[in-house]
Amino acid sequence: MSAEELPRTVTYDGGRLFFLDQTLLPIEVKQEEQTGIEQVYDSIKRLKVRGAPAIGIAGAYGLVVSMRDKKGYSFEDFMGKLRDNAEYLNSSRPTAVNLSWALKRLVRCAESAGESSGEDLFRLIEREAVYIHEEDKSICRSIGEHGAGLIRNGMGVLTHCNAGALATSEFGTATSPMYTAHSNGISFRVFADETRPLLQGARLTSWELQQAGLDVTLITDNMAAFMMNSGEIDLVIVGTDRVAANGDVANKIGTLGVAVLAKHFGIPFYVACPSSTIDMETPDGESIVIEERGDEEVTSFGERRTAPEGVKVRNPAFDVTPAELITGIITEKGILKPPFSEGLNRMFG
Ligand code: MRU
Repeated sequence: MSAEELPRTVTYDGGRLFFLDQTLLPIEVKQEEQTGIEQVYDSIKRLKVRGAPAIGIAGAYGLVVSMRDKKGYSFEDFMGKLRDNAEYLNSSRPTAVNLSWALKRLVRCAESAGESSGEDLFRLIEREAVYIHEEDKSICRSIGEHGAGLIRNGMGVLTHCNAGALATSEFGTATSPMYTAHSNGISFRVFADETRPLLQGARLTSWELQQAGLDVTLITDNMAAFMMNSGEIDLVIVGTDRVAANGDVANKIGTLGVAVLAKHFGIPFYVACPSSTIDMETPDGESIVIEERGDEEVTSFGERRTAPEGVKVRNPAFDVTPAELITGIITEKGILKPPFSEGLNRMFG
């Protein structure tokens, strides 16, 4: 199977919305129809659909689905409901800026139409959601074209969590340079961190890269230092949920540890993302809201409990890697190098 043929994360077809249920992967590949706003909220919250760009796309279509029986509303009533529903969906997960970015884009698109019928407003937001989805495809491909040159024959490339096709419309962000290098005939190995507690690296990244024919090796998170020390890793590429204006980057918990290790071993550490993940309104990493998730994700492994009842638990889902540990940020517009605040401001300010 090529990267193009991987199952689609989000599908909007003839007004019907489907998410690939990623909680079932890699055991089962199942598309689940999303019929209402509560279901979409729940699918995002429970990580049936996850990854920053994908939850932006999913949220946008979810908002469209929530408005499809409101076509008979007046302009004021339609806009009121649209804003309420956008706020509700936005509360499903706080860290990835792509969700609020996509929802705001739909609300602004309806606002800018001015006094119009509910029918017309619905058509506009539906078209905007499709644009967001289509745009993401070409953005992911451009990230791949800009980043592929970093990967050379014989390299070992480490990634963390899943910033792959499953986290986007297709190709992924961190994985897009890998897919492009692979189709350019470059021979390299990918090492996928397992990514505790929810195993996105094991369940999703190693699965999608293997399906697409890349040479992927799964390691547990605590093996990264060993692999780097033994000279098997030449490059790190990860995704991100939010890039602050100073270049600090939030990504899946454990990314900061990988970045510190990469610095110690002198290995380049790159972050790949679309411009929709760059949040110029957030000045620095300290201002990024980090999602805290339920204890059960840490006290069990799959269905099996692995910790004593009543033990105290922390479960931050993301961490922040400071700009000084980052070698470059790969976007659809090219690779930004430090000082990031200047480059980000020039390109996205
Ligand atoms: O909790 P998740 O699985 O949504 O976390 C995903 C990540 O941290 C990804 O690296 C990030 O969203 C970038 S996806 C292109």
